[in-house]
Amino acid sequence: MLSKSQARLFFVVGTIFFSGVFLWLTVDTLNKMPAQTNAQNISPEVNRGKVIWEDNNCMGCHTLFGEGAYYAPELTKAYERRGEAYIRALLMSPTPWSPQGRKMVAYAMTEQEANDVIAFIKWAGEVDLNGFPAEPTLKQTN
Ligand code: HEC
Repeated sequence: MLSKSQARLFFVVGTIFFSGVFLWLTVDTLNKMPAQTNAQNISPEVNRGKVIWEDNNCMGCHTLFGEGAYYAPELTKAYERRGEAYIRALLMSPTPWSPQGRKMVAYAMTEQEANDVIAFIKWAGEVDLNGFPAEPTLKQTN
């Protein structure tokens, strides 16, 4: 049984030690971020694509990096899964894209806007997410 002063010492030393571990892990994570996100690839197109992504509330239906809503497909690996031409056609389509039933908003984007969004989705797909999304991928067979 610890005495009161031993218990206090145990608490203080434990708190300091694990705060140190927490800080060290935080710094370690922050240091790895530029490499994991390929920070050098964040071009003006990628930035514009992200603004379009946010302005249009794509996350109201989709998830990216697992964040968002579950109405429509996860888009982290959409570039790899669908390719550029498919995504451009879908973003520029004047009518709702819905080969599988649920409707994607008809944004009728300009080519420039579509290219920016594609650059953003491509960049997102190259981020090292420590294995997310897990296999099997959502590769379509039809
Ligand atoms: C109202 C909900 C909704 C919103 C908002 C929405 N989408 Fe979609 N999106 C869908 C649905 C549903 C599909 C699947 C359509 C199908 O294949 O039948 C889809 C498909 C896609 C696909 C193809 C994914 C795949 O694997 O086939 C991409 C890329 C995409 N959307 C990008 C976007 C972007 C970028 C935005 C914002 C600018 C956006 N979506 C906003 C509903 C939405």
